[in-house]
Amino acid sequence: MATPEIPARVPLRPVRETQPWKADSWRAHPAAQLPHYEDPAELRGALDELARLPPLVTSWEVLALRNQLAEAQQGKRFLLQGGDCAETFDDCNNEVIANRLKVLLQMSLVLVHGLRMPVLRVGRFAGQYAKPRSADTETIDGVTLPVYRGDLVNAQAFTAAARRPDPRRMLEGHARSALTMNFVRALVDGGFADLHHPEYWNLAWVDRSPLAPEYRHMVEGISSAMHFMETLAGPITGFQRADFYTSHEALLLPYEESMTRQVPRQWGWFDLSTHFPWIGMRTAALDGAHVEFCRGIRNPVAVKVGPSMHAEQLRQLIEILNPDDEPGRLALVHRMGAGGIAQHLPRLIEAVQATGRRVLWVCDPMHGNTEKLGNGVKTRRFANIRSELEQAFDIHAAAGTRLGGVHLELTGEDVTECMGGARNLSEADLGRAYKSTVDPRLNYEQSLELAMLIVRKSGVAAQ
Ligand code: PEP
Ligand code: CO
Repeated sequence: MATPEIPARVPLRPVRETQPWKADSWRAHPAAQLPHYEDPAELRGALDELARLPPLVTSWEVLALRNQLAEAQQGKRFLLQGGDCAETFDDCNNEVIANRLKVLLQMSLVLVHGLRMPVLRVGRFAGQYAKPRSADTETIDGVTLPVYRGDLVNAQAFTAAARRPDPRRMLEGHARSALTMNFVRALVDGGFADLHHPEYWNLAWVDRSPLAPEYRHMVEGISSAMHFMETLAGPITGFQRADFYTSHEALLLPYEESMTRQVPRQWGWFDLSTHFPWIGMRTAALDGAHVEFCRGIRNPVAVKVGPSMHAEQLRQLIEILNPDDEPGRLALVHRMGAGGIAQHLPRLIEAVQATGRRVLWVCDPMHGNTEKLGNGVKTRRFANIRSELEQAFDIHAAAGTRLGGVHLELTGEDVTECMGGARNLSEADLGRAYKSTVDPRLNYEQSLELAMLIVRKSGVAAQ
């Protein structure tokens, strides 16, 4: 079993007084995980340019998502949030984007069918370009350079030029996010997500999968039910499209600030770089810059909750991020590891229950289960991912709360990064197609298997 990674304890500080918020008030708070840009004028120039560019999403979409998250809180929807650990500028291409949509559509079909409720699809895409790292620098053969922080900040090659934080990358990141969004919207609007044509989502490697018969059987069942309903009622329009929302870690605050706007006929401020930003585990300090930034935007916000989170810290986070207990505003994404969830989740659920506040509970069974093999390769075992997810359903059911969604790192590519699953990938298989630049992702087949498992488990846990 993977040893859960225990981060440094986050210091507890008293809840801040109610202070006026501004898009740049985070600058007065300690900011973890931000790069150092050498040239302030170059940084200012890039941020000014960014602030003049159109937003990537609209406030209407953000508010519609909030309503759907509120429904998930009430048990009327299930959140499926997934995508790459880190997108790269290179992977902003037709195939990678379409394949990721395909796997998310297939998973959501499995979930809708099995859970008998609508699924809320949120991609970790169109902006997931900045990464928190455990150290600021990296040393190879006596040479020390700034660490790679994602394509939004610097490049991965181990040279001084590549590792220099380059503010113009924020403009490139904005452009690539826009290209990704544009393609996703066009596909979805053009009929790619039409339930009448699930064959559009077939990936080249589906037919070889041991899960193919079960999946095909389910698709046939849905098709004949749709055919039956349409014979009675005529064409039903809701089947033609499926909405996708976007999310990324709101890590690079200068970028997020430049995308934060006021819009006509709405009060307050929206971070229009994405629909659903989240605060990572390493940046959830109560008086930190990331919490300060997120408290003032009207987007729904998620916070990653790891094993080092204290009950009191969580209580105060809820108070700071959702003081008015607005429905659909706050999701807590727990990521404890298969070996840590039984110890840590119940006490945190209890702490939240004691506040009487509403949150959406989401399980990320990936980040607490990362391990390094003897050869230095990072992997995750499917058995641990599965175990954490199954325990999450049981722990919530026992506490009288509900697991309202999952947060996964996955890809539609045929990669071999996580071990186990239907094809039982071994350590030797990892060498075949390991492509991730950061964390190991579930491949298409492992993702589908997890969706099937969620259906089975949620049925059991609910009884
Ligand atoms: C991530 O989601 O890629 C991540 C780094 O997660 P966490 O903050 O939970 O470690
Ligand atoms: Co990750």
